[in-house]
Amino acid sequence: MTIKDALQARFGDAPDVPPEAEALIDMAARGVCRDYRDDPVDPALLRTLCAVALSSPSKSDLQQRDIVIVTDPEIRAGLDRITGFDWQPKAPAFLVFCANHARFRACHEMAGVPVANDHLDGFFNASIDAAIALATFITAAERVGFGCCPISVIRNQPETVASLLGLPDHVIPVCGLTLGWPNRPPRIQPRLSLGATIHENRFTQAQEPGIAEYDRRRDFPRQRDTEKWGEKADYGWSDDKARQYAVPQRTDWGAFVRGKGFRLD
Ligand SMILES: Cc1cc2nc3c(=O)[nH]c(=O)nc-3n(C[C@H](O)[C@H](O)[C@H](O)COP(=O)(O)O)c2cc1C
Repeated sequence: MTIKDALQARFGDAPDVPPEAEALIDMAARGVCRDYRDDPVDPALLRTLCAVALSSPSKSDLQQRDIVIVTDPEIRAGLDRITGFDWQPKAPAFLVFCANHARFRACHEMAGVPVANDHLDGFFNASIDAAIALATFITAAERVGFGCCPISVIRNQPETVASLLGLPDHVIPVCGLTLGWPNRPPRIQPRLSLGATIHENRFTQAQEPGIAEYDRRRDFPRQRDTEKWGEKADYGWSDDKARQYAVPQRTDWGAFVRGKGFRLD
């Protein structure tokens, strides 16, 4: 498969791909993995991937992200219980990517300089730093042949995660990640078209045409919450996402983040 084939399958259209971009085929054709072989993961390889992930850019060189590698079976079981995904306990490795604003505050204390930026920006910057490390980790892990799946559902019980991992004030879990050797090759899941999601100079795209085009390309064999919303002939991605988020989720997240000492205004 060429990178153009992969992008065509992903987006329904593809740019002209110059030869120097062919090396990105693994990134273009990637997909999450929720089905792992039993084979163990070399701890040295895992730490190498963490080091590569933490080599990614960091806002203002502040380095406001940390990674927790979970190896204790009891802690792991506690995290697996939160989500209840039946495939999750079978993943040989589990990590949690955290936003860490505590180090920033410690720098101020050590330098004897008061914190002048105690507002939403701190939460935002630390969360982005953690997300960049997560994305870089996934790219690196997939490149060496691992399969991964981010797990944000651990945030459904943030207090439990914080207690299991001993997260101090100003440190919050951004995302979990399962990892292992995949049982099958990745599947290219279609995305919204490039026409809908890449803008040039000005953001002029109305939402509806891009969504409608994508709805026609996505296939959903099973409709969500049919007891409540009924069966729909042309059920698509927009129906699925609207139904998924018709149920309140993580309404306590703001309270948890504030409770950890972040100011969000
Ligand atoms: C921040 C983040 C959190 C996610 N959380 C979960 C999760 O809790 N459970 C899950 O099964 N997949 C989770 N995913 C995986 C997405 O469902 C998946 O990336 C998406 O469906 C697109 O599939 P693809 O990555 O194979 O293209 C998460 C992905 C991201 C980026």
